Amino acid sequence: MGKTYQIAVIPGDGTGPEVVAEGIKVLNAAAEVENFSLQFKPYTIGGEHYLKTGEILPDTVVEELRQADGIFLGAIGHPDVKPGILEKGILLRLRFDLDQYINLRPVKLYEGVVTPLANKCPEDIDFVVIRENSEGLYAGAGGFLKRGTPDEVAVQESINTRKGVERCIRYAFEYCRSRNKRKKLTLCGKTNVLTYAFDLWERTFYEVAREYPDIETDYAHVDAICMWMVKNPEWFDVIVTDNMFGDIITDLGAMVQGGMGIAAGGNINPEGVSMFEPIGGSAPKYTGMGIINPIAAISAAQLLLETLGEVKAAARIEAAVKKALRDDIKNVAAGKMGYSTAEVGDLIVNYVKA
Ligand code: IPM
Ligand code: MN
Repeated sequence: MGKTYQIAVIPGDGTGPEVVAEGIKVLNAAAEVENFSLQFKPYTIGGEHYLKTGEILPDTVVEELRQADGIFLGAIGHPDVKPGILEKGILLRLRFDLDQYINLRPVKLYEGVVTPLANKCPEDIDFVVIRENSEGLYAGAGGFLKRGTPDEVAVQESINTRKGVERCIRYAFEYCRSRNKRKKLTLCGKTNVLTYAFDLWERTFYEVAREYPDIETDYAHVDAICMWMVKNPEWFDVIVTDNMFGDIITDLGAMVQGGMGIAAGGNINPEGVSMFEPIGGSAPKYTGMGIINPIAAISAAQLLLETLGEVKAAARIEAAVKKALRDDIKNVAAGKMGYSTAEVGDLIVNYVKA
């Protein structure tokens, strides 16, 4: 018997628990075939738990998560909780406290999936966005003056440290090299307006680039990136960008690859514990109906295995997802798959074992 990994599971809110259950089924199947095992420990945190107990994220839970080999997250978000509380209190706190400074979001169109981009096929849409995940506008710097008065001032600052920018850029170069596709890394910024923050990003990018002569470098402003992602997505291999721009362009990316039903991401600390999630959210209106697409969660599970180094098991999951999307699933949208959430999980389990 191979290794045993300790996986912390945060099913969370809404459809989170339903999709996480399918992810776990698939993880267990892949582990069985590839001869390792996973032990799952669930943690009850999220909007539901907060409304019941007033507790958001106890320090003891953060410390336990820090000890895990990986974290599998469903979704955090509740319609009855004011925006910002759960996002800052759980998701962003975990990213920051566990120093998950990379947010890795593959944008890949699988055969059989409909993209809203006319005349684009799987060969055209296959790139990865590496989003800085610990700084920028998300750092929470700023404040109010004279809040609620006519003289009110609100300041929200973007924090960019040389260390933070460099470690992200370095990760992106390494990732681009090991991905071994077009070996092209595009910096997404806004050097024409954000002349301090993206000056630092641009200088760092080209300095680090000297160590990677095998990687082609490119730069585009974030607004132009949005345009090219729609018009010529085949130009991209790996894109590196800051936290806020990365947040925005990856929602665009998710749509380009077919929708939130299949978009997955990882919050990665290359030296510590990483957390994987479907990027779609808690989808309250579909909760408990068994019709949400679990593929985003299953692909997040695949990313988790890749990060653990179980690359064969991860490849098995990807092949199974590809086959199910190509041969079986009619539409990736909730309620339109032609299968229930659990049936999609079963289908993929069978392909993983085949
Ligand atoms: C994401 C989400 C989060 C973010 C929210 C929920 C705080 O949109 O993971 O992209 O902005 O990072
Ligand atoms: Mn987002």
